[in-house]
Amino acid sequence: MVRAVRGSLFFFLNDPGTDTDPAGSYQYYDDGILVLSDDGYIADVGSTTDMRSRYTLTADETIDYSGRLIIPGLIDTHSHYPQSEIIATYGHQLIQWLEKHAFPAEAQFTDKNYASSISRFFLNELLRNGTTTALIFGSVHKISVEALFEEAEKLNMRIIGGKVMMDRNAPQYLLDTPETAYSDSKALIDTWHNKRGRIRYAITPRFAITSSGEQLKAAQRLYHVYDDVYLQTHVSENQDEIAWVKQLFPSSKSYLNVYHDFGLLGPRSVFAHGIHLTDDEFKLLADRNAAIAFCPTSNLFLGSGLFSVDHACLANIRLALGTDIGAGTSFSMLKTMAEAYKVVQLKKASYTAKPEKHTTLTPFKAFYMATLGAARALYLEESIGTLQPGKEGDFIVLNPDATPLLRFRMQKSSSVADRLFAFMMLADDRAIEAVYLMGQRWQNNGA
Ligand code: GUN
Ligand code: ZN
Repeated sequence: MVRAVRGSLFFFLNDPGTDTDPAGSYQYYDDGILVLSDDGYIADVGSTTDMRSRYTLTADETIDYSGRLIIPGLIDTHSHYPQSEIIATYGHQLIQWLEKHAFPAEAQFTDKNYASSISRFFLNELLRNGTTTALIFGSVHKISVEALFEEAEKLNMRIIGGKVMMDRNAPQYLLDTPETAYSDSKALIDTWHNKRGRIRYAITPRFAITSSGEQLKAAQRLYHVYDDVYLQTHVSENQDEIAWVKQLFPSSKSYLNVYHDFGLLGPRSVFAHGIHLTDDEFKLLADRNAAIAFCPTSNLFLGSGLFSVDHACLANIRLALGTDIGAGTSFSMLKTMAEAYKVVQLKKASYTAKPEKHTTLTPFKAFYMATLGAARALYLEESIGTLQPGKEGDFIVLNPDATPLLRFRMQKSSSVADRLFAFMMLADDRAIEAVYLMGQRWQNNGA
């Protein structure tokens, strides 16, 4: 029985902001021990010397990861599991990509066996990449989310998901109605939300283009009736999309205001992309305590644009990262952080209207956005995102020797900031040596 793990331990206590040396916002033990309770929570954490003076830990109760870096499980705040098989489909931008690739792929999720097998593949990929929590879109079919939740429950993963609501501007075979969207979502909430495993529900209107006003009202009723349910959708990803939304909702002040007008902005609402938001829209998100999922690999792949981390930080919004599978090109949050860094670099070089203050994406900020920052965006910081006592025992072990290049580069690395940066720029699934869910090591049996 594992009671403790030993290695270098790193986690955040607070937002590191954009300082390159944000001492006090994080905890680092070069040689530390994480003690687990019998039910999989973190019982204690500290230096090996301290922990050994307080606990009697026998060799077979302690797993030794000396030389490795142990951090909280990574958190992906935006993805579509039914799009797993269309990752890397050539040649289109958003609207055409949805029509040519995403919609036909999602049509297959009328078949529960199929949905279960894709769910297993998807969750296995998340875990192989060190992602222990994700906010996930299903397809329009209720069974797609049942399949996902059943598989996540077997793994004891902390997963948030929802059935897509869409009643217009998509192929007939994928449309629901305001009534069925409401009743199917409600049934899923009643069965799953805070009821089974570590599952929570997200009301999921796909985006303003595919939901009528009537359907957005149905989403609003669910969001306001149920305690601590989530709401996930897309906003301001692509210029053609924004123009179309303007035609469909001419009386709303902006794209984000469409959602605001239907009462969909608030705590636990997560908006993917937000590339072309105005300062007023960023301010509205901040005022409403809503979050943005920045999805750099998808934004680059679809040519959607460069998200402004500067504006998001200046507005002080809850900001996290998403893979956006299958427009995103990697399940790895490390790779997602690397692309986020490059987007910030490119954005800095391309501003026409310069923001008050420039940031680069420090390694601290990037890891924060994939751990405690994401937990805060999801209002889950009481449970996950750090390695503090009382949190769920979801953590991962990063191997700095995973590839020849990583090993070579790490030899030159003397600070924790530089090690983190090398991991985010150069590492991928090969560096994820072990993954723990509620204190139990996850065994990859394939999927
Ligand atoms: N906007 C509406 N639906 C989608 C989707 O499936 N993927 C992306 N990237 N954007 C969307
Ligand atoms: Zn998406």
